[in-house]
Amino acid sequence: MSLSSQWARVVVLGSLAVSGFVASSLAQNAPAGGPSPAKQAVENRRAAFTLIGNSFRWFGAVAKGAAPYDEAEAAKRAARIGFLAGQLDGEFPQDSNLGDPASKATADVWSNRAEFDKKLEKFKVDARAFQEAIAKEKGATDGFKAAVASLGQDCKGCHDTYKVK
Ligand code: HEC
Repeated sequence: MSLSSQWARVVVLGSLAVSGFVASSLAQNAPAGGPSPAKQAVENRRAAFTLIGNSFRWFGAVAKGAAPYDEAEAAKRAARIGFLAGQLDGEFPQDSNLGDPASKATADVWSNRAEFDKKLEKFKVDARAFQEAIAKEKGATDGFKAAVASLGQDCKGCHDTYKVK
C-alpha cells in the first residue's frame, strides 16, 4: 500500500469515528435524530386529543338532533375515543412543561399533578364506560344523550383548569 493510500485510510477511519461520535451524542437528546422525548410527548398528546375531539364532536351533534344517528358510526367513534384515552398515558412528563408554544396545557398540570392525574385516569375509565353505554343504545335515546353529556363533562371539567382557552 502506498503512503498516500494509507493516509487516505486514516482520514476515512478518522471521519467515521467523528461522525459516529456526533451521532451517538445527538442520540442522547433526540432518539434517531427526531424530536426530543419532551417534544414528542407534546406532539403525541395533541394528536390524541385532536382525534378524540374529531371523534366526539359527532356525538354532540347527534345528541342535539343536528346529525342523524348511525349505529356503525357510533360504535366506530366510541371505540376510537376509548382507545385514544389510553394513549395519553405518560404523555405529560415533567420536562414537557417548558412553555412549548405548541402546547395548550396550563402549568397547573404540573403544579396540581395529583389532581390532574386523577382526572386523566377517570377519563380513561369513563371513555371505556362510554363505549359500552353507546353500544347498548340503538338510537339518539335519552341514554345516548346522557352518556354524551357525561363524557362531555370530563372534557370541560379538565379543560377549564388544565387547557389554555
Ligand atoms: C384530564 C384532562 C383532560 C380531559 C379529560 C380532556 N382533555 Fe382535551 N386537553 C387537555 C389538555 C391538557 C390539552 C392541551 C394539550 C397540549 O396542547 O399540550 C387538551 C387539548 C385538547 C384539544 C386540542 C388539541 C390541539 O392540540 O389542538 C382538543 C380538541 C381536546 N383536548 C378535546 C377533548 C375532548 C373532546 C375531551 C373529552 C371527550 C377531552 N379533550 C378531555 C386535557 C384534557
